[in-house]
Amino acid sequence: MTKKNNDSPRAFGPFSLSVEQIRPHLLVNITEPEMVKLIVEMSAKFTKKRDQINDYVMEHRHVSAYAAFYLPTNIPKLHFLLSKLPTDVLDDFKNRPFIDMGSGPGTFSLGWKMLMNTPSHVEMIGVDSAQIMLDQATKIMNGFFPKDKFLAVRKFEEAKTNSVLFFGHSINEMGRQKAQEHIMTIDPEYVMWIEPGTSDLFPELIQLRDVMLDHYDVLYPCPGNGACPNNWCHQVLRTTHDQSVERLSQLVSLDRKILPMTAHVYRRKSKTLAVTNSATVVRYIQETKFSFEYEVCHLVDGVNKNSIIEIMKKELTKEEIKDFKHSNVGDRLSFEVEKMIGEKMRVQLK
Ligand SMILES: C[S@@+](CC[C@H](N)C(=O)[O-])C[C@H]1O[C@@H](n2cnc3c(N)ncnc32)[C@H](O)[C@@H]1O
Repeated sequence: MTKKNNDSPRAFGPFSLSVEQIRPHLLVNITEPEMVKLIVEMSAKFTKKRDQINDYVMEHRHVSAYAAFYLPTNIPKLHFLLSKLPTDVLDDFKNRPFIDMGSGPGTFSLGWKMLMNTPSHVEMIGVDSAQIMLDQATKIMNGFFPKDKFLAVRKFEEAKTNSVLFFGHSINEMGRQKAQEHIMTIDPEYVMWIEPGTSDLFPELIQLRDVMLDHYDVLYPCPGNGACPNNWCHQVLRTTHDQSVERLSQLVSLDRKILPMTAHVYRRKSKTLAVTNSATVVRYIQETKFSFEYEVCHLVDGVNKNSIIEIMKKELTKEEIKDFKHSNVGDRLSFEVEKMIGEKMRVQLK
């Protein structure tokens, strides 16, 4: 979509993985029926409280099943997030050490390598408290990128100020306090997270955002560093997967085509304040015969504010209308206000 700030997903290279591509790199060989049973067991745990979910990381079979299902279905979330960032930021990521905190089976380390196409010399560090997860991550990373080094460690407690520090569904498990400690110790250039898009976790992440803003600017999803006007802001990615992954998700009765998430990106504060002139879609309202309506978060007099916007179809090309029909909560738009219709703004996309 040209008028939305979306690069083409393909700009980052292929991201759809099949179960068969991952299978040779699993710690243990598991049959499909066994995989189904293990995934069903695990997903029941993920819906429970944090202190009850940790034991899935203790067993080779569970970790292998986790990798086969969640790795290919989580990587598209990173693809989505990267597609929302400006190209200068993506260019700046390329040569930076990548620290995957709570790496699990290497989901986002693999995603980062595949999507960012980073050079071999770039340091890739997976950190996880569970040794079996690290073994699985190492096997996957060495399998997909045999020439590149992947450091898998249970603890990482040193400063690496030029790095990108990434949390993938791990703040949810380690807790905000621990995540904050990691950020302070590592003191990275960038902090990114992709966490579950649940209303329970949102207040924790907003508290972490507040702390972050002392030293960092927010690059996504907020238009500026001001207070958040939402009591639950998250993104919803609508996607498809390789047929083998779709089949597995049908067998386990888990919808992985609609992926809610809370994704944030921060960069160390610089003298030039990070201010974006784009708005982030925080809620889809409706498509009418003549228009699309969204609630967006945007900057008004330097303050993050929510507003309802209306985009007239007659202003869009057929291609753009098609794209808007597939748009996601979390997409970014740039617009000018044409006129106010009550509380609603009719806008022209830029
Ligand atoms: C839900 S998994 C996510 C794995 C992977 N990042 C992904 O998104 O697919 C969470 C991971 O965080 C790890 N973890 C939990 N607490 C941790 C801590 N305090 N330090 C390091 N890793 C931790 C767990 O062992 C687990 O592998």
